[in-house]
Amino acid sequence: LLADSLYIINNYAREYFTDTLFNSEEGQNVGLSYFEERGFTEETIKKFQLGYCLNTFNSFAQSALAKGYNLEYLQKTGLVTIRNEQPADNYRGRVIFPIHNQSGKILGFGARILGKHDRAPKYINSPENDIYVKSRVLYGTYFARHSIDKLNECLLVEGYTDVISLHQAGVENVVASSGTSLTQDQLRLIKKYTNNLTILYDGDSAGVKAALRGLDMAVEEGLNVKLVLLPDKEDPDSYVQKIGAQAFREFIEENKKDFVLFKLQLSMQEAGSDSAKKSQLVNEIAETISKIDKAEDFTKQQDYIRQCSQLLNIDEQGLIQLVNKFIR
Ligand code: CTP
Ligand code: MN
Ligand code: MN
Ligand code: MN
Ligand code: MN
Repeated sequence: LLADSLYIINNYAREYFTDTLFNSEEGQNVGLSYFEERGFTEETIKKFQLGYCLNTFNSFAQSALAKGYNLEYLQKTGLVTIRNEQPADNYRGRVIFPIHNQSGKILGFGARILGKHDRAPKYINSPENDIYVKSRVLYGTYFARHSIDKLNECLLVEGYTDVISLHQAGVENVVASSGTSLTQDQLRLIKKYTNNLTILYDGDSAGVKAALRGLDMAVEEGLNVKLVLLPDKEDPDSYVQKIGAQAFREFIEENKKDFVLFKLQLSMQEAGSDSAKKSQLVNEIAETISKIDKAEDFTKQQDYIRQCSQLLNIDEQGLIQLVNKFIR
């Protein structure tokens, strides 16, 4: 089966890149030093099975082909491409982040460039294939599932290194959307573990926009969504490395905001004293509230109506009528 072959190749590659990281001179001097500079301990590096791909034309491809792995399948995994009619390593000179499924099998890889990334993309990720479908993958589920279960809450971050640094700080109920656009499939995956989602996106405008975009989707999925806005220019990785584990955990608890109210506050700041904008805003909020399934969660909908009408300084009955208009 194709899927089985891809898993086997990915597992071989994972071992190969880990071995390169710890046991080759270049791996130690370049890859391992990079991870150490980022504050990752050896324990963390081993737990997440991080690796390094030598900056050579095709060391990995040659080794895999010598082992008998099929070139066509190696290309499907994205580990190998054809360059000048030769099999070539796709991730050369990059540090490697294996992406595990819920049971620990390797779906694909993220490969990060070292140093500046003006010309090449910062991360190269596996191409879509029979086992890696980006919209259905959440990075970190294998390491997070027990903690999510225990705490009945899932933290959602943007990146690989956010997940890793938070784990190292003892925050283990965390997964990454691997980029900023959250999908319905990813939300459904989260819902298998918990109904309580807390989004911790980067404290830049792209992060805020992406977090807002996820709102209606997450509410429609019936999740209780909260959001933590990080200080400008920080992401969970940089911030936890800066202020430490204990302070970071306190920061999250103190800054968790209900998602609907968060959106409302942001929009109200934008609307200012513009009455046309404000009435458009009331409509949008009513539509969002209408998406909370009434039968499933009646008190939640009532709570939102009460809190929003207070925040907007409008009549509660009026807001109820507007919400009902969207339901019909
Ligand atoms: N990403 C990607 N391709 C890129 C940039 C980003 O796939 N060219 C994905 C990666 O999964 C990355 C996430 O989006 O982890 C978040 O992007 P960003 O915040 O730019 O990167 P960080 O995770 O913060 O990575 P680092 O700290 O290593 O810069
Ligand atoms: Mn950048
Ligand atoms: Mn970002
Ligand atoms: Mn980062
Ligand atoms: Mn980031």
